[in-house]
Amino acid sequence: MHRGNTMNSRQQEKLTGLLARPVHWQCRLDRYTSFAIGGPADAVVKVESRLELQALLVFLLDEQIPWRVIGRGTNLLVRDEGFAGVVLLLDGEFKTVDRPSNQNVGSVIVRAGAGCSLRQLAYRCMEWGYSGVEFACGIPGTLGGAMIMNAGAWGSDMSAIVAGVVLMTADGEKRFDRRELDFSYRCWHGFAAHLGCAVVAEVELALQNGDPDMIRQQCEALQDRRKKMQRCTYPNAGSFFKNPANDSAGRLIDASGLKGLTIGGAMISAHHGNFLVNKGGATAEDVVRLMHVVRAKVKKDSGVDLEPEVHFI
Ligand code: EPU
Repeated sequence: MHRGNTMNSRQQEKLTGLLARPVHWQCRLDRYTSFAIGGPADAVVKVESRLELQALLVFLLDEQIPWRVIGRGTNLLVRDEGFAGVVLLLDGEFKTVDRPSNQNVGSVIVRAGAGCSLRQLAYRCMEWGYSGVEFACGIPGTLGGAMIMNAGAWGSDMSAIVAGVVLMTADGEKRFDRRELDFSYRCWHGFAAHLGCAVVAEVELALQNGDPDMIRQQCEALQDRRKKMQRCTYPNAGSFFKNPANDSAGRLIDASGLKGLTIGGAMISAHHGNFLVNKGGATAEDVVRLMHVVRAKVKKDSGVDLEPEVHFI
């Protein structure tokens, strides 16, 4: 599907001049999403530093150009028409994890850039003997993405370990303390008000000192359990629906006999009902049609309204 660039040549030139790295114009987003689905964005850019990010946010605001940070694109369905705007990938200093110099007995605050992967973060904390991030070691996204959706697994989530967050807007940066942040299951409510104007730049995590070997064993055990339950070989976006209270979306979809159901290139995983997968060549429309079928059937059979966990752009 082809859609012309909505940025004019002056804007394109200005954008290029703001960044250390080359801009990818009319860049398909299927390469940047774990679903391997998505039409082109006007531009995809890698941002290396807070200085660069701030200048970029000022430009985007002045020119009224829509933008989104997409992390590793692991919880995302991008429409087939693509995104008329600029997609930001946080790189460089946004991928660092700082080892704290001062440690209180028992606990520690780790500061990490929003662009670092949860896997990398969990690995660093494991090496240093900091416990708390183990639940996240098999979650494939970035720290910033995990933060805005309060990602979780195994009965824990980001809200349990976040001590603070730094947001950046065109006006500069601002730190929010944990007490100012309102989370619920798979949701950071307050972020909705910042969507499209603020970027999560850094997250502070409150962790406990622990034994590196024990932490490693815990991470490995959780990753093994995850692999056994999910066993997904096709591209996917993780759990597609949020779990309803006291139940599991996967169990309900399974109970409705929907595993293996296919529309176009999109299929409900034969292994786990809550995984919608791209069997090859799936379009976003295939996935959305499949999603509607699942919601209608589960509603009819169990009376439950399933709500997507996946974000849409
Ligand atoms: N089940 C079925 N059939 C299925 C799938 C699951 O009967 O097709 C049953 C299982 O046997 C189990 C129950 O449903 O008794 C729960 O399944 P599972 O242990 O796989 O957990 P889940 O509720 O589907 C949640 C998170 C996962 C996280 C796991 C482990 C949500 C929506 N999903 O899955 O998170 O990895 O627990 O903690 O909260 C993600 O968010 O992307 C994600 C993968």
